[in-house]
Amino acid sequence: MYIGVDYYPEQWPESRWPEDVRLMKELGVNVVRLAEFGWQLMEPEEGRYDFSLYDRAIKLLTDHGIKIVLGTPTATPPAWLIHKHPEILPVDENGVQISFGARRHYTVNSPVFHEFTLKIVTEMAKHFGPHPDVIGWQTDNEYGHEKSDRSYGEADRQAFQAWLKEKYGTLGELNREWGTVFWSQTYTDWSQIPVPRKVYQEHNPSLLLDFDRFCADAYTRYNRLQTECLRAHIRSGQFITHNFVYTDQAINQWDMAEDLDYVAYDNYPVWGGLAEPISPAAIAHQHDLCRGTKNGKGYWVMEELSGAQGWSKIGYLPRPGHIKLWTYQAISRGAEAIVYFRWRAAQFGTEEFCHGILDHDGLPKRKYYEVKEVIDSLKKHGDDWIASSIEAQAAVYYDPENAWAWNIQPQSSAFSHRRELLRHYTPAHNLNVATDAVNSRSSLEGYKAVFVPIYFLEDPVFTEKLKQYAENGGTVVFSYRSGVKKPNNFVTGKTLPGELSDMTGIRINEYESLQTGQGNKVKGSAGLLEGMESSATVWCDLIDPVSAEVLAVYEDCFYEGTAAVTRNHFGKGTVYYIGTALEDSMLTALYKDIFRHAGTETIETAEGVEVVRRGSFLSVMNHSAEAGAEITLPEGQWVDCATDEQMSRTTRLEPLGAKLFKIEF
Ligand code: GLA
Repeated sequence: MYIGVDYYPEQWPESRWPEDVRLMKELGVNVVRLAEFGWQLMEPEEGRYDFSLYDRAIKLLTDHGIKIVLGTPTATPPAWLIHKHPEILPVDENGVQISFGARRHYTVNSPVFHEFTLKIVTEMAKHFGPHPDVIGWQTDNEYGHEKSDRSYGEADRQAFQAWLKEKYGTLGELNREWGTVFWSQTYTDWSQIPVPRKVYQEHNPSLLLDFDRFCADAYTRYNRLQTECLRAHIRSGQFITHNFVYTDQAINQWDMAEDLDYVAYDNYPVWGGLAEPISPAAIAHQHDLCRGTKNGKGYWVMEELSGAQGWSKIGYLPRPGHIKLWTYQAISRGAEAIVYFRWRAAQFGTEEFCHGILDHDGLPKRKYYEVKEVIDSLKKHGDDWIASSIEAQAAVYYDPENAWAWNIQPQSSAFSHRRELLRHYTPAHNLNVATDAVNSRSSLEGYKAVFVPIYFLEDPVFTEKLKQYAENGGTVVFSYRSGVKKPNNFVTGKTLPGELSDMTGIRINEYESLQTGQGNKVKGSAGLLEGMESSATVWCDLIDPVSAEVLAVYEDCFYEGTAAVTRNHFGKGTVYYIGTALEDSMLTALYKDIFRHAGTETIETAEGVEVVRRGSFLSVMNHSAEAGAEITLPEGQWVDCATDEQMSRTTRLEPLGAKLFKIEF
């Protein structure tokens, strides 16, 4: 397996490079990513290309057996280009042009930017494409990240109007699909259609959703321009990837991944001023999204956090053990390669405090030896581990368009798409049930349960798949505000939950948005939830059961006694509807019962302990920095991969401990 570092030779005296390579070799590094921010170095002035610095660095690295992944440098258009073509710069929703001075300072809708992109990528591909030790390419860097997913300038407006014309064909169709009769917004010419810059109130939700779709399509097309250019000049054995982030921005990773050989991902469990890492479930969910983006294909972690990160604000210092813990968690959930960010903290520039394996003084210390321990621990079983697959028992719905629709209309001050999605992902995670991320592209065959939380923008293709899955015996769990919106972002004209009414066996004739600090209560009234209590926050769907049975009711307000949680038998399957944001305890009880009925093995562990099966391997990780934990392994004869010792049924993990076991039979 490939395991390496993100290296910036251009940021250090060439006299230091041999020491870097010596230390990398001692570490066991076998791959390095470089050049993703090197446009000005490689094209110091328009039309003059100079690859000599990277040639020398690549020669030194590859002479020592280290392979190369090259980044196309389009995330940092050089000053001479911007000075000559300021129209490349993006524009924010206030109409303010984003300045040169950092990175990602371009709009993908600039034809001039496409022209210069093609030139630099072509020259790089011609120069480095034949190199036997260049194994792959990363296009650009984190498309759409750092607020660069949307631009509201003249080039964007013209491209948006062209996109709309291609989508709708006629203005009549567009006006109908947007409901522009509302507030006298009917368009009589394509040129009248705005990009959604600032207004006093709020834009038309259908325009906003189409604008997000347009922004995502524009990035997908821009990436395809790069991949097609690369493939015309590079060796067939070189792969192309892009390092995504999954932050609900206007990027459709699933669309873009169709032009990539691999998904890559930057794994930062903690960044900037955060006082502590995000939850183990939140990190795990990101990995599950990566694995789901190319239908279960393994992915590269192109940036694996090694040191404290931040620009003008730094945060939590990863503790001894975190590097191995987060590396094992990544591989256990589908990563095929790990590249640590970054080799050495820079002494200058915006990222002086984005710490790496080495710090500013370049001396190997604790983090260096921790990475060495991890690389050594993977020598024997790493290749077999990454060659094995993950058999998920459950699935959780995620579609970028649903996230965008929620971002457009959160409807409650207490609503956060990420938090509410994790509310329904975390119980299965805590029960150590492997979970895939699914959407309309996925097959639902074989899952014991499919969780479809906050399914606000109803996708007819996915809904049809859910109906068939449930009819054939599957278990589907919807949460509140499901079935509300049509694909054009209109509210359904049917009584809620709209197209989901037959499956759920309910009607929702009223609902209430709860604000931050507000809450109702829910009491279990039957079955597995009987006697349990939970707060009810964020939202209350007042459920009228038609064919469904009531599992819990609201306890407060004028709708006391109204159904809050229901279960319906549909075909051979079962469909739950959870009409409010429940506490973890009640949700976990529900999920436990679902998995019990479905015959799914759950592994109960102490808080913060994660157990993940990947083929014949089992990784056990303790995310608690304070408490050790005792874990009972699943049935089978397990061998500790670190010691080759046969295991008894239990093992102990120190705080932040991570172990790998292999089943013998
Ligand atoms: C992102 C970027 C890197 C660097 C790191 C810093 O992942 O891809 O270039 O900025 O963050 O943590």
